[in-house]
Amino acid sequence: MKATVRNFTFLLLTAISVTGYTQNIPFPAGPDPDRIVLNVTEDPSTSLAVTWRTCDTISTSIAEIMEASSDPMATLKAVKQVAHSEKFQYDNISVFYHSYIFKNLKPKTRYMYRVGTENHWSEWFHITTAGLPGDKLSFIYFGDVQAGIKSLWSGVIRAAYAKMPEANAIMYAGDIVNRGEFDHEWGELFYAGNFIHSTIPGIMSPGNHEYAKTKGDKLSAFWRPQFTLPENGPEGVKETAYFSDIQGMRFISLNSNQAEEVPADLESQKQWLDSVLQHNPNKWTCVIFHHPIYSIAPQRDNPWMRDNFKPLFDKYKVDLVMQGHDHAYARGMKKIDGATGHENSGTMYVISMSGAKMYKENQKPWMDKNGGHTQLFQLITVDGNTLSYKSYTATGDLFDTFKLIKQKGKKNKLVED
Ligand SMILES: [Fe+2]
Ligand SMILES: [Fe+2]
Repeated sequence: MKATVRNFTFLLLTAISVTGYTQNIPFPAGPDPDRIVLNVTEDPSTSLAVTWRTCDTISTSIAEIMEASSDPMATLKAVKQVAHSEKFQYDNISVFYHSYIFKNLKPKTRYMYRVGTENHWSEWFHITTAGLPGDKLSFIYFGDVQAGIKSLWSGVIRAAYAKMPEANAIMYAGDIVNRGEFDHEWGELFYAGNFIHSTIPGIMSPGNHEYAKTKGDKLSAFWRPQFTLPENGPEGVKETAYFSDIQGMRFISLNSNQAEEVPADLESQKQWLDSVLQHNPNKWTCVIFHHPIYSIAPQRDNPWMRDNFKPLFDKYKVDLVMQGHDHAYARGMKKIDGATGHENSGTMYVISMSGAKMYKENQKPWMDKNGGHTQLFQLITVDGNTLSYKSYTATGDLFDTFKLIKQKGKKNKLVED
């Protein structure tokens, strides 16, 4: 009976989020900027990137930034800087995307910025640059958003923000929308995130649903225009594979979908990852991508990820691997040894989901904890040698928690509360 109810719920949620849209319905843009999204750069202590959208009659746009002030008159002194603007034409959608990278910022400093043109300005958003290695770090992680974005995920991102408004970054493990080529789904994402996207820098990694099956399995045409992510990854996967160093942690995004589809992009990411892990001055490392190294469902194994990337995670003792795709929850470290035929060198593997699409939960030998049919978000803090991980349900209840303790020259120690 329970399974029947769940199957019905899944079908219902799928129907809510997918059917009714058989074509690309524009989410109309106006002269005022919308979809204002802040992204990390390679070094968010001194630079941050912002991207926004307008209707296609606004072909140039301006970005302004200044140190935050409570004196409204002080904003008159902000310097206007011309954005990079690109016409975006796709199916029946015609808009402009604009972007600007704020550079030469001071670490750990509160700024305010706005974007737009005369009579069509955004609000002044307050943002804070990253601090230095050793400063306490916090970040939010979301598994697949993908379905029920407006209806059921809006509350999840708000709940995460309410618990951690000081987050240095928000990470997305792909399948951020269900159909990457559909404008209205991206519109729902920006509806749900609203000012949170404009004030906490995003680390976005693409999933298979950001690849348009009807358009030759290419990365969504929206991805690169509407995000401005570090271009320090390999050719062919720029702004999907990249790294960003924040307060002593190296965050690395891999493009697992293209690693599956294009052998050259698998090889280039492998070599690049080896290099960025070898030359990593940070104490901590977190890698994010879509297709899990260890899966939840038996028929969803991703051997190209495990065989090619796990040896590097082991070699360089990566601390945390954040993944999605399986629409249930699992994490594991201590049971991986022996249970899978693969040794583990202290890396914690996490799979989660945050939107409304749910697959069957499963129990496998590698998992220390598992669950399903629960919308979740994760809040992580790093303070000195301790990483504290907490997973919360959409209703704000603690669902899972552990700590990783860094031990010089040895595997991380796992402490489960
Ligand atoms: Fe997926
Ligand atoms: Fe998914």
